[in-house]
Amino acid sequence: MRSKIVAGNWKMNNSAKESKKLVKQIQNNITNLTLENTRVIVAPSFVYLQKVAKKTKGSPIEVAAQNMNQAAKGAFTGEISAEMLKSIHIDTVILGHSERREYYGETDAILAEKVKAALANNLEIIFCFGEVLEDRKSGKHFEVVKSQITNALFDLSAEDWSNIVLAYEPVWAIGTGETASPDQAQEMHAFIRDLVAQKYTQHLAENVSILYGGSVKPSNAEEIFSKADVDGGLIGGASLNAEDFTAIIKAI
Ligand code: PGA
Repeated sequence: MRSKIVAGNWKMNNSAKESKKLVKQIQNNITNLTLENTRVIVAPSFVYLQKVAKKTKGSPIEVAAQNMNQAAKGAFTGEISAEMLKSIHIDTVILGHSERREYYGETDAILAEKVKAALANNLEIIFCFGEVLEDRKSGKHFEVVKSQITNALFDLSAEDWSNIVLAYEPVWAIGTGETASPDQAQEMHAFIRDLVAQKYTQHLAENVSILYGGSVKPSNAEEIFSKADVDGGLIGGASLNAEDFTAIIKAI
């Protein structure tokens, strides 16, 4: 059975002190919750991964990285490898976020390499993709999402997919306050699951968690999460506030 997941992407926010405080608050808020088949993940900046992981030890909160480089090692100033993440006991990495694609030129081909490097190091991947507003307006959103998934993930073996979580994040909904409607999210998630079923098997597709991301907040989380093919959310802005993030966890 696929897991439900609420993941907080902190992006380039929070000092060391704020990061520790935030995770502690979330931890306190969720201690008495029964998280049945639900995973809670936070993705702080690289520099706080170890500190936050130390704070969450023994709690249900898992810690993920926001990115990694595709190369194993070498002269890549400022970069972090999959092996480095593993060496500090980080088991999950977000790849393909639209901000990485847009500001840092991460193409499908680069992402395919990153995916392979992560899997070679036994990292779980939260793989993000989604269309820009123009694609949606011109009715190309299914085509765009299909090619993003096909180009980066359809070379993988069925076994590899046990380490893949998908995150549909329409770019026009990220950080804009505008959310895809629950029906728009469901429509795309069902399309994605079908795509995976056609390429692999129905059984495999049924076991892949597909998260929605883009302006999820306490006021809309429950309705979005109520959709059959929405298995949780990747949360940006609202994950920086412990109360909001907790409310979103409770909505799942
Ligand atoms: P947002 O970001 O919740 O602030 O829209 C989502 C994301 O970028 O993952």
